[in-house]
Amino acid sequence: MKVTVVGAGNVGATCANVIAHKELANEVILLDIKEGIAEGKSLDIWQTAPINLYDTRVKGSTNDYAATAGSDVVVITSGLPRKPGMSRDDLIATNAGIVKSVTENIVKYSPNTIIIVVSNPLDVMTYCSYMTSGLKSSKVFGMAGILDTARYRAFLAEALNCSPKDIQAVLMGGHGDTMVPLPRYTTVAGIPVTELIASDKLDAIIQRAKVGGGELVNLMGTSAWYAPGAAVAQMVEAIVRDQKRIFPVCAWLNGEYGMKDIYLGVPVKLGKNGIEQIIELKLNDAEMDLLKKSGAAVKEVMDVLDKMQETVK
Ligand code: NAI
Ligand code: 2OP
Repeated sequence: MKVTVVGAGNVGATCANVIAHKELANEVILLDIKEGIAEGKSLDIWQTAPINLYDTRVKGSTNDYAATAGSDVVVITSGLPRKPGMSRDDLIATNAGIVKSVTENIVKYSPNTIIIVVSNPLDVMTYCSYMTSGLKSSKVFGMAGILDTARYRAFLAEALNCSPKDIQAVLMGGHGDTMVPLPRYTTVAGIPVTELIASDKLDAIIQRAKVGGGELVNLMGTSAWYAPGAAVAQMVEAIVRDQKRIFPVCAWLNGEYGMKDIYLGVPVKLGKNGIEQIIELKLNDAEMDLLKKSGAAVKEVMDVLDKMQETVK
């Protein structure tokens, strides 16, 4: 197995490091446009192999896509992160240019790869990569739901003083403040969460999870990387080990949940073919209403991208 991670910044380098430590591939290529950074970080990661005892060979490349040839999975993290006061949508113009050119180069050398997009605004950058790649939508998708759900699960574990391992949850919708946590589908070791926590406390946790990315931007002056890097590595693991795991993933909808031609976070089954199934939950009217609102917010930004592309033509 060969995995490429484009962008050797905070998220990309963390993701490559987790992939190597879990031995999810024989070879990981870390690529960045900045001279030397990918080579330096790869060398540093590779030098942990004798200490942490793994075989995955991590190699760096400054913008030489020939090094990525034949990748089974490519993770795209290249692009600007948020600064305090910025929304994810403020990044669209710069990051669309980056994601488009990166995708073109990737498919030139790995025409059958699976692409996982991380760059923000996530749902729209995934759309940009999909439109550019010419790949099937089951092979181009985005990481956000695992991260957003992890934040929600971590806050719940803290409030309930229990292990985060026992908290199962699903959070749908776009990767923004309109995301849709689903308390009805949240359990603690099989017990509905609503039986264990007061509704006002649960509401406060849901609200914190929705703006969880912003909380970290305000604390650190840039966006998070440990949980995002681990989340994307978990998706890579499900694919390369053909685990058929069910995760919330930013996927192309073709009529599911009554929506079409839009990328949005929904539960999917991930295996060696990428998205092998989109799971349609029986949402109630209130949940569906929130999902539709989230879809409308994503669609608005997708339209901005479409207009930008028309202007460029
Ligand atoms: P960073 O600034 O640390 O790293 C970005 C890297 O991309 C830099 O090293 C830069 O040189 C590189 N880059 C820029 N243009 C490139 C190009 N054309 N080709 C190759 N490399 C290029 O940023 P960080 O924190 O790693 O975040 C990366 C992206 O991921 C941002 O857009 C951020 O908003 C997004 N993000 C998304 C999350 C999600 O849940 N989907 C979570 C966290 C971050
Ligand atoms: C996050 O949620 C900013 O999308 C990034 O941490």
